[in-house]
Amino acid sequence: MIQRLKQWLTGYTAADQTPVDRDRMEALKKGPLPKHVAIIMDGNGRWAKKRGMPRIAGHRQGMITVRHITRAADDLGIQALTLYSFSTENWKRPKDEVNYLMGLPAEFLRTDLDELVERNIQVRMLGEEEQLPSHTLDAISKFKEATKENTGMVLSFALNYGARREITEAVRRIIDEVKSGKLDKEQIDEELISRHLYTAELPDPDLMIRTSGEIRISNFMLWQLAYSELYFTDVQWPDFSQEMFFEAIEDFQRRSRRYGAV
Ligand code: FPP
Repeated sequence: MIQRLKQWLTGYTAADQTPVDRDRMEALKKGPLPKHVAIIMDGNGRWAKKRGMPRIAGHRQGMITVRHITRAADDLGIQALTLYSFSTENWKRPKDEVNYLMGLPAEFLRTDLDELVERNIQVRMLGEEEQLPSHTLDAISKFKEATKENTGMVLSFALNYGARREITEAVRRIIDEVKSGKLDKEQIDEELISRHLYTAELPDPDLMIRTSGEIRISNFMLWQLAYSELYFTDVQWPDFSQEMFFEAIEDFQRRSRRYGAV
């Protein structure tokens, strides 16, 4: 009973203990690894519906997948993992669902902060902080504060994120800098624009994964994905396993990246 209560409180289940295929992981480490993997975690709602459960049950299970994939990416030696957690369009969802999603950072903080610190992972947020409820902001700032000295993988949650908005904000800030004389118009190049995005300190993703069968980018990292390999799978995010993540990396290793050259 106590064990079951603990599992419910922490989100950990027996399936959580599934051992990683170490041989497969070691083989992957021998090939070229993406430095930065970005993921559109889609299909939580459909996953829940299929099981006769409310949509939020899908998000809860999705949070557990976040834990598994974070571990797999970290064990593999990926430098940056970015997860699309809430888009600027997601405010249009039913209020209860929005409230639940806004509570997940605090929940994740409670259940996973210790492990993230132990793993030397640095947690960041990409997106507009304004509009987010104070309890969400509070959890994010606790995450940032507790992991700011960490030097390992950078785990970014894209929250209240929209790529067009990100680019618009960057343009505004660049114009301000030109107007104030801090910057000359001639200095505006791709590098400078990249430095004005939320992802300023991150390399562009080498690989973008989207789950649940939708073949779209949905306003996610439009600038940064210019040369990324794209990987789509029909599997819904709550069912996306570490093995499936390794499969995506294997697929990446089979592709040759030429950046427009021959
Ligand atoms: C898309 O599925 C998923 C989301 C909008 C939310 C994703 C969030 C998580 C997986 C948890 C994030 C965890 C933290 C700690 C912030 P959907 O609801 O659009 O699925 P559907 O297309 O089947 O309806």
